[in-house]
Amino acid sequence: MTLLEKDKKYVWHPFTQAQIAPEPIPVVKAEGIWLYAEDDKAYIDANSSWWTTLHGHCHPYIMDKMSQQLKKLDHTIFAGATHPGAVEAAERVVNLLSGNYSKAFFSDNGSTSVEVALKMVYQYWFNKGEQKKRFLAIQGSYHGDTFGAMSVGQRGYFNKPFEHLFFEVDFIPFPTESNIDEVVSLTEELLSTGEFAGFIFEPLVQGAAGMRIYQPEWLNKLVDIAKQHDVLTIADEVMTGFYRTGTVFAMDQIQHQSDIVCLSKGLTGGVMALGMTVTTAQIFEAFLGENMDNAFLHGHSFTANPIACSAICASLDLLEKEETRQKVNKIGEMHRDFCLKVKDHPGFRSAKSIGTILSLEIEVNEDSSYFETDMRTAAYNYFIANELLIRPLGNVIFVNPPYCITEGELEKVYHHILEFVNGKT
Ligand SMILES: Cc1ncc(COP(=O)(O)O)c(C=O)c1O
Repeated sequence: MTLLEKDKKYVWHPFTQAQIAPEPIPVVKAEGIWLYAEDDKAYIDANSSWWTTLHGHCHPYIMDKMSQQLKKLDHTIFAGATHPGAVEAAERVVNLLSGNYSKAFFSDNGSTSVEVALKMVYQYWFNKGEQKKRFLAIQGSYHGDTFGAMSVGQRGYFNKPFEHLFFEVDFIPFPTESNIDEVVSLTEELLSTGEFAGFIFEPLVQGAAGMRIYQPEWLNKLVDIAKQHDVLTIADEVMTGFYRTGTVFAMDQIQHQSDIVCLSKGLTGGVMALGMTVTTAQIFEAFLGENMDNAFLHGHSFTANPIACSAICASLDLLEKEETRQKVNKIGEMHRDFCLKVKDHPGFRSAKSIGTILSLEIEVNEDSSYFETDMRTAAYNYFIANELLIRPLGNVIFVNPPYCITEGELEKVYHHILEFVNGKT
């Protein structure tokens, strides 16, 4: 049996309708920005493999650090034990975040980093003996696929079968130039009830909603209201962290800091599955006590896996280099220039960028939605035929490449996007 035949026989793929899905790409090798298929075809990984890869695939420095770690310590229980990699990773991430953070809690992925944050918020108020049960979130948000994460995410097509199981969440509209005053008053009205435990948001960009970008000053205002009313804030930086928005963290672009930060994806340079939930001493201390009553009784078997922690530290070594900042700035500059270039192009409804993320909404007849399947499939297939792996979100084509992409390679990406849109219009 071929790889694809076996795959069809044994594997259930994520976000896929197996009955109608085209064959998956049989990826057997990766290097830098390139994914190589079994038949030697190569694809530019223009969305960084679900927005994870920062420095490029199989970066020799990260691979080397991980293989050194593999020879020393593969895994260890993390309750009642610790190891140097976890301690170094926690220290470095806590100190990399601007703000008054103090502790890092490890888990396995983005959804669990959010799940942990939600549980911390609820238990914080529980431990303090306060009745705060409601949560605030922003319409269109995506925080993952576990139950808590789904509860605070956009309700609808993706999670309909589970909706009756979600906890109570109030959603404010996605802030825009035209509604920001109303969003601010609604937030004030809701949070002033004193019933809200927490407010969760994707800072500056809603990823899965179609890379929707909003202004730092609006977020600052919303966080400000939460702080005034003693509502704990969770910045879900799972997608935005580690330079995706041009600054190390998206929250670096606002004055306030959140009480909790969720990290994953680029945390390990996109090499290993790991999640981290970082919080302040104030929150940590609410879980202390002489017995287990107040303790945070949560954990995963692979919490703080040493190989994954070695990937974090290696990725941070690269991230802290001036060269990385320059690459990020260059990608940002090229994205901005491209947006200017297509500003008046009739094929684009909007062209926006923030940091290394370029978001292009393609003109289609109906209102934009995730299931603009014709456009989405046509675009996806067109890009694949041109050695480009881009998974549009509905009618939004977006590019968030590994930082090692060269100017020439990025020009090639723009060229094919323009060619596709020109062919369409
Ligand atoms: C902002 C945000 N939060 C959480 C998640 C969930 O992460 P994971 O897919 O690792 O569970 C994602 C995934 O795309 C995300 O974009």
